[in-house]
Amino acid sequence: MKIGVCTGGGDCPGLNAAIRAIAQHGNESYGFQVYGIFDSYNGLESRPIRAIELSKDHVHDILDRGGTILGTYNRGGLFTDPGGHERAKRVIGGIKSLNLDALIVIGGEGTQTMAQYLVDQGVPVIGVPKTIDNDLPETDQTIGFASCVSLVADSLNRLRSTAESHDRVMILEVMGRDSGFIALHGGIAGGADIILLPEVPFSYDEVIDKLQRRKQQGRKYSLVVVSEGAYEKSSEPHYKSNVGGKMNLGGIGQMVAHKVYEATGMETRVTVLGHLQRGGSPVAEDKLLATRFGIHAVDLVAQKKFGQVVVLQEGKITQVPYSMIEKFARRKIGPNDSYLLAAEGVGISLGRARRSIHSHQQ
Ligand code: F6P
Repeated sequence: MKIGVCTGGGDCPGLNAAIRAIAQHGNESYGFQVYGIFDSYNGLESRPIRAIELSKDHVHDILDRGGTILGTYNRGGLFTDPGGHERAKRVIGGIKSLNLDALIVIGGEGTQTMAQYLVDQGVPVIGVPKTIDNDLPETDQTIGFASCVSLVADSLNRLRSTAESHDRVMILEVMGRDSGFIALHGGIAGGADIILLPEVPFSYDEVIDKLQRRKQQGRKYSLVVVSEGAYEKSSEPHYKSNVGGKMNLGGIGQMVAHKVYEATGMETRVTVLGHLQRGGSPVAEDKLLATRFGIHAVDLVAQKKFGQVVVLQEGKITQVPYSMIEKFARRKIGPNDSYLLAAEGVGISLGRARRSIHSHQQ
């Protein structure tokens, strides 16, 4: 068989580990020819098609490498957008002229929505979920999330020592779009005092109250993690830019810092972690997940079980049909998420009046 693999959407640590697993397992275990497609679907849309046959040499030393050797793309819209059907036709034409028997699509929400469209057109696709945001449906984890969380936790540790020396409130703004998984997991692991999430619109009174209480207890510094999509109860998410129609969240960290200083006089500093969260080598957990996802994707191709997305559910790698996923809507933290409860359990403020244990159990 001849299979194609592409990476779409924002990059993240672990993509190369997945590409390596697909190429190695495809070549070695099944004797498949594996083609790496460049720059997401663009490589299949272009004429001539931009793709390369992946050999052992291409993938032997990429396990630890950040980014994606195939390149990626996160603009340009969906196949259902105006002009999108024509693009999809060219992609399908590209798949036919390369004689691909299957296409493995490693991507997040936008890329998988486009893959779902291709599946509806009869293209034999297998999806592999990746995104630092961890916001895809049906899977407990996506490639890239663990590395991002680890960086957020490490960054908080670094901020703690300087916060403590200067008696400052350090605010760390992290990515995640409208889902707060990065802020919540990274904040807990890094020992944050306050975590502000898109799923829990916050109140400035609660934030300031927590900072004042810490001060009264003799803790003159505090660490605050703010998700880029977090917003105050009576307000809305804050966008920093609109790049070619793509709205980018950002700036809420600075707004929180301003309010805190105004209300308390405490010295504040803001760090926007930005694209550091997407760069660098994957942590071991991501290398393992990416490898397992890649292996399973190739096994599904070998069994001709197409139109499936590889997922992690309760520790097991399995698959869910694209047809069962109504929409690749962004997954959010639920009200009874165990990490949310754990955060409040260890005294982290979420910028809201703490819910009683009784209301959690209801
Ligand atoms: O979806 C991944 C992500 O890193 C988000 O967390 C962030 O809002 C966005 O991509 C940034 O996109 P860009 O790379 O276009 O700035």
